[in-house]
Amino acid sequence: MNVIREDISKKLNIALDGPAGSGKSTVAKALAASYNILYLDTGAMYRACAFKLVKEGVSVQDSDKVKALMENIDLTVQYIDGVQHTFLDGEDVSAQIRQNEISMLASTVSTYPFVREKLVQKQREIAKNQPCVLDGRDIGTAVLPDAPFKFYLTADSKVRAQRRLNELREKGNTQMDLTTLQKEIEERDKQDMNREFSPLRQAPDAVVVDNSNMNAEQTLAFIRAKIQEKI
Ligand code: DC
Repeated sequence: MNVIREDISKKLNIALDGPAGSGKSTVAKALAASYNILYLDTGAMYRACAFKLVKEGVSVQDSDKVKALMENIDLTVQYIDGVQHTFLDGEDVSAQIRQNEISMLASTVSTYPFVREKLVQKQREIAKNQPCVLDGRDIGTAVLPDAPFKFYLTADSKVRAQRRLNELREKGNTQMDLTTLQKEIEERDKQDMNREFSPLRQAPDAVVVDNSNMNAEQTLAFIRAKIQEKI
């Protein structure tokens, strides 16, 4: 169902920012499907950079080596049957980059300005050609500061950890426990919110959605209602 006016849909960029486990990707995916527009998961691109370091055995602390690797990184995003796939060196790494071990490494590699510049350029390139929903940490503040629709999703860290635990369990990972996951999420929030370049911040014109007590359907309905209000 496409309820957006055609003139608006041409420049329909929706920015969804927020910390890990705030439901951004679930909601962004459903939102994009409901408007029949593209969904770009920008976190996947940082995850692919982290995966490249693992693959090449380069320490994230070694900025010279990280910089050299990033200069020639072969990283592309492709859509297959409407679903985003992330390719690294020609290989589809969409599943590997979701491993929990990659999360913190992606956060650390994302602190380098040369990594951010490269990926932000790719993200803007994708967004300028078509209406889309982008989710990440700096979409409303840095990637698309002029996006007409901006949302900042958040939730209590225990609720977010529980969501991540459920996802991991569904994938068969039974090793992880809630307390460890909550600690990891809080550490990652701290790093993402306090880095020097484009830290995770709520854009002044973003609508804040605390969905600690909302499920994905309710969050989606709330966001859709806010978008409709502005159209
Ligand atoms: O959304 P995610 O958990 O897949 O993101 C992994 C890390 O990538 C996140 O902790 C910080 C970084 N990231 C970023 O700095 N900017 C973005 N737009 C998206 C992700």
